[in-house]
Amino acid sequence: MLTTLQELSQQFYAAIKAAFPEFDFAPHTVEITPSTQDKFGHYQFNGAMKLAGLLKKKPREVAEAIVAQLNSGSLKHGLIDKLDIAGPGFINIWLKPDYLAQRLQTMLSSPHLAIAEVKPKQKIIIDFSSPNTAKEMHVGHLRSTIIGDCLSHLFEFLGYDVLRLNHIGDWGTAFGMLIAYLKENAPAVLAGTEKTDLTHLVNWYRESKKQFDADSDFKKRSQLEVVAIQSGNPASIQAWEIICDISRKAYQEIYDLLDVEIIERGESFYNPLLADIVADLEKKKLITLSDGAKCIFIEGFANREGDLLPLIVQKSDGGYNYATTDLAAIRHRIQDEKADRLIYITDAGQATHFAMIFKAAELAGYLDSSKVVVNHVPFGLVLGADGKKFKTRSGDTERLIDLLTTAITEAKRILMEREVDMGEQQLTETAEVLGINAIKYADLSSNRTSDYVFSYDRMLRFEGNTAAFLMYSYVRINGIKRKVGVDIASIKEALELKHPSEIALAIHLDQFAMTLDQMTKDLSPHRLTEYLYNLAERFNAFFRDCRVEGDPAQNSRLLLCETAAQVMRQGFYILGLKPLERM
Ligand code: ARG
Repeated sequence: MLTTLQELSQQFYAAIKAAFPEFDFAPHTVEITPSTQDKFGHYQFNGAMKLAGLLKKKPREVAEAIVAQLNSGSLKHGLIDKLDIAGPGFINIWLKPDYLAQRLQTMLSSPHLAIAEVKPKQKIIIDFSSPNTAKEMHVGHLRSTIIGDCLSHLFEFLGYDVLRLNHIGDWGTAFGMLIAYLKENAPAVLAGTEKTDLTHLVNWYRESKKQFDADSDFKKRSQLEVVAIQSGNPASIQAWEIICDISRKAYQEIYDLLDVEIIERGESFYNPLLADIVADLEKKKLITLSDGAKCIFIEGFANREGDLLPLIVQKSDGGYNYATTDLAAIRHRIQDEKADRLIYITDAGQATHFAMIFKAAELAGYLDSSKVVVNHVPFGLVLGADGKKFKTRSGDTERLIDLLTTAITEAKRILMEREVDMGEQQLTETAEVLGINAIKYADLSSNRTSDYVFSYDRMLRFEGNTAAFLMYSYVRINGIKRKVGVDIASIKEALELKHPSEIALAIHLDQFAMTLDQMTKDLSPHRLTEYLYNLAERFNAFFRDCRVEGDPAQNSRLLLCETAAQVMRQGFYILGLKPLERM
């Protein structure tokens, strides 16, 4: 079904057309917004002022003409209860409680809460997480993973065909160095006879870098290794695969804890396409030589001195790089995967890189912006309590896995402090869910583009805009349903909204579809966390003001509880949070 916002826009469009037949305008220009305060109604139309300017009339007159049209019988407006003009010409709108009740009933009786699936089906590729082989995943990758998983869930729920891609940094000259080092210092690892882990690999990587910088013979051996991998030498490829496997295992441990699914398609996947990309760019006269490197210079991308920035696609030593791979990837995703939209989730530091890639892809004819939407979704830094980049007490960058397990331990400690009535097994499970939910929620609820301060204490609080508060609210709603003990499916009564707190809750529940719709545009998960937080608060107000058990309106109110529970559950799912039935 259409959202209430869309319904209202249609009504207003028709009213404006009828009031000013000579005026030509497009339906989407009619903008209705939810009201910011109760006294301004449920929704507002603030466009009369702008319209008055265009029509050369007084704003108030324009507003009155629109309201007169809506009030006259010529327009059927089964949804509007009352209209009111405020100030210079703001139109405040109150909805009919019956209309809202109907909407909630439809949500309850349809799959997907009556939210329409996109038609025709569209394909979206979401590039997220994307750590670098032989390196630890860091908090930046954690943000990318959490946001990427959330946006994937959102589009999947809305019926898109979503391809989640892990663009792992698994290729490049650094592997020459590492393989040369391992051959000399840990041959058993490369032979596959000695098992090891990412922590060791990261150390060897560090050592190999040191030796590379200090020892020119080692440097030569490393460069030969690079040539060997590039030319597909079987022993070198096998060594490379072992390194990838060790890294992959460590990443998978994190994905399992976070319950995130993603398909690995690292940089190496595009390696066979790179020579052709450069040749194609040369053919299209996009390449300029600069200090021996093949570069694309794009108007509008300059440094502070005003010199154009190079997008290097082939280094002077013949090697390809990050940008070349991203150009190959964008072409592949559009031409071969036939994506309608591409989304890339990385820290804000890569904004220029992606802006240049998108522009270069357009110039090369890989991307037609009128057909395919591309978005770089940047995010801010994770900060420690000191306001600086997040580090462990020892000063090293925290290993992600430690960070996740600490959250779980802390969650367990807090649950024990609260003296929850649980056996050991249930306590452990609850702590695991709470700890991970808290990490995810803290991230998703902060404005994506700003930095946020990481704090176990804050994220694990039971009050305020936190995972625990929402999970607890959800448990409470289910507790009420359980206590009344009526099977929801057997309820024959219709949902009826009378009390202002019931209506306020219903208005909010009805805005779930609208919230998701906005999220598809600005790709900001905190819209949904805010929505759910407000939902919990409105539910609490309703439950404070309206008796459920034993009230004549009991069954209608149970339906309201059920809608709230379903919306919350669905919201949790999109955020990647696990609900608990008891807490
Ligand atoms: N591996 C990169 C990093 O750690 C992120 C890759 C993002 N995706 C892309 N297509 N460039 O910063």
